Amino acid sequence: MIKAQRGTKDIFGDESLTWQWILKNAQDVFQNACFQEIKTPIFEATELFARGVGDSTDIVNKEMYTFSVGGADKDSASITLRPENTAGVVRAFIEHNIVRQSPPQKFWYFGPMFRYERPQAGRQRQFHQIGVEMFGIKEAAADAEVILAAVNFLKSIGLGDLEVELNSLGCTKCKNDYKESIKEILKPYLENMCDDCKMRYNKNPLRILDCKNEDCQKIFELPDVKKVIMADYICEDCSTHFNQLTKYLDNLNIKYSRNKLLVRGLDYYNRTVFEIKSSALGSQSAVCGGGRYDGLVEMLGGQPTPAVGFAMGVERLFTLVNKIQSKKIDYFVVSTDSLEAMKLTQKLREKGKVVDFDMQGRKFAKQLEKASKIAKCAIILGEDEINQGFYSVKNLESGEQIKLDSIEEL
Ligand code: HAM
Repeated sequence: MIKAQRGTKDIFGDESLTWQWILKNAQDVFQNACFQEIKTPIFEATELFARGVGDSTDIVNKEMYTFSVGGADKDSASITLRPENTAGVVRAFIEHNIVRQSPPQKFWYFGPMFRYERPQAGRQRQFHQIGVEMFGIKEAAADAEVILAAVNFLKSIGLGDLEVELNSLGCTKCKNDYKESIKEILKPYLENMCDDCKMRYNKNPLRILDCKNEDCQKIFELPDVKKVIMADYICEDCSTHFNQLTKYLDNLNIKYSRNKLLVRGLDYYNRTVFEIKSSALGSQSAVCGGGRYDGLVEMLGGQPTPAVGFAMGVERLFTLVNKIQSKKIDYFVVSTDSLEAMKLTQKLREKGKVVDFDMQGRKFAKQLEKASKIAKCAIILGEDEINQGFYSVKNLESGEQIKLDSIEEL
């Protein structure tokens, strides 16, 4: 038997009702905050992610679904299933010259993403993100507006009490200075660190701070190391930007905490980074991750454009929300004459009712049994009803049955 691939999942039945509800809330909240929906392709040129997400990241190094199509004689350029959507939205922003519209240009999206990770609870190979990207505003109000959109959406699905963690990575200069100090202080301990950290040391030293390995964590706790890690390394401008952001958040009553170890796993961030977490999710606790990426549009060939955004994992949200139960349908048409049953069903559906009928012309008793499981009322269309032109409507909860001359009364 052919089964679904490891790390992928079929979504159907009541689960899909909860998904629809999550999405409807996203649409309402983001449209209400003037974000427009954007749909970009699921596959893009591999180079977009290599350059955009960064070739020192785990995503680009080990997790991309990359392949080429077409033979040697065709256009066999390398393409990749998108591991995230920021790079794709930025590509579209540049390609359609959206920069010409007056800022801010605000987008939201939903869709599947693909990462070849080791599947575990809350971590899949095909997962879905809901996210927003906002372009054109360098001021901290934009960072606050984006965090506000995330918090409002979470509130709308009953998750208003999650923990917002914030940090500032500073500008390129701040980041580079910090990287150098981290490398210097960790150099003597490198031998005792895990293989991943040894690799990150040269390629992406900030990511070392994210390491969950116990031996590495012990090293971070050493007083001289901790002092460097926790130092206030960002410059005055970046510090002012961060303080302005916290002022906006305070003003909006959005609770947050500063996590100086929050560095995020993608290369494009500068200044603000944030995550929204739930301890109920265990080791994969982040439902939302985002931040500012002022250099990415230019890096991918556009005009210098400040930008900020986030994405949330829908599977993780799904674990946390109250699930929607399917409701009984309005009517089930019970008849052995499926021609008449289908005609009546159609008329009722046109009136906006939720209606189904039996397509196999099964016995009355079987149809009624089915109706009582799935419907609030049965509309019985027997020979008498059809010949004399009336409808018998049975309330399947109370058992009461009435005769109607016209469906207009329903
Ligand atoms: P990210 O932190 O890689 O950021 O992913 C955002 C969210 O997607 C995570 O917090 C998590 O909820 C979910 N997620 C990530 N990987 C998986 C997985 N394998 N299985 C299930 N859920 C997962 C980004 O993707 C950035 N593009 C966010 C962003 C937008 N930054 C600025 N704009």
